[in-house]
Amino acid sequence: MAILSRRIRALESELSKRDPEAVSKSLAQHIAHEIKNGFTPIVMAARQLSIGARGRGDPYAASVAEYAKLIEEGCDAIRRFHTTISQVGSPPAMRLDAVDLRSFLEEEAKRTTVGRDHVHVETAFDLPSGARIRADRDDLRRVLTNLVNNAVEAMDGRGTLRFRAVIETGTTPTVRIDVEDTGCGIAPSDMDRLFLPNFSTRTSGTGLGLFYSRKIVRDHGGDITATSVLGEGSVFTVTLPLDDGRPSVSDDATPTETVDIPR
Ligand SMILES: Nc1ncnc2c1ncn2[C@@H]1O[C@H](COP(=O)(O)OP(=O)(O)O)[C@@H](O)[C@H]1O
Ligand SMILES: [Mg+2]
Repeated sequence: MAILSRRIRALESELSKRDPEAVSKSLAQHIAHEIKNGFTPIVMAARQLSIGARGRGDPYAASVAEYAKLIEEGCDAIRRFHTTISQVGSPPAMRLDAVDLRSFLEEEAKRTTVGRDHVHVETAFDLPSGARIRADRDDLRRVLTNLVNNAVEAMDGRGTLRFRAVIETGTTPTVRIDVEDTGCGIAPSDMDRLFLPNFSTRTSGTGLGLFYSRKIVRDHGGDITATSVLGEGSVFTVTLPLDDGRPSVSDDATPTETVDIPR
């Protein structure tokens, strides 16, 4: 751990001298690698503990099972973190599909908010039937997951989350998707830094969610912007070009290298 901290500090010090995206990528790859090395035995050991303690009925076994559960929950959080950082700086490996906007967004509004018992969810999708984009569904799911997680964190788990979508016609017809929260809002001085790698105001934040989300959306030819009123809430807006229906050359970029870590 001490060696890792030293290496991270060394990499961070390069940030001032080099392209932040390149530094962020090497930092992320390094952390992902170290996590993978340390993670597997922890997951295995927690699983063995919980299997060993199951059904024994004595108080000691009950507390072992409880602690094993805590370890497994912690491992889930690390797994999510690992997934995020493994993707930083990866070559785009998009699998483009025609995505029907209404059904996709309705599904996503449900998926990203399931179990958020104190979040009131509103949706307003003003979309003509058949409106679609060409996109990698998994990538867009990651973006919406990041935006919703941020929104829920900004509201401390309690408030109103609004999903809106509307078509904007112009030289390039686009869909505009808003994710709006009634959370803490963002200080004007932070607005310029939101999408920079490693910018986070949360103690356990990675500062990579928005950085990576913007990269995904830009790889799709769109963009993400934010507006906010401190103390009232924020709106993150994703714009993406509509699918014009013309056949497009299929994307044959090399697949992203993924690292399997046990579930
Ligand atoms: N909906 C939001 N409301 C308030 N602040 C936000 C919101 N979304 C993002 N932020 C700010 O942007 C920072 C960066 O977000 P992100 O890149 O997702 O990293 P992380 O969530 O790990 O901190 C957050 O730490 C927070 O300060
Ligand atoms: Mg985040």
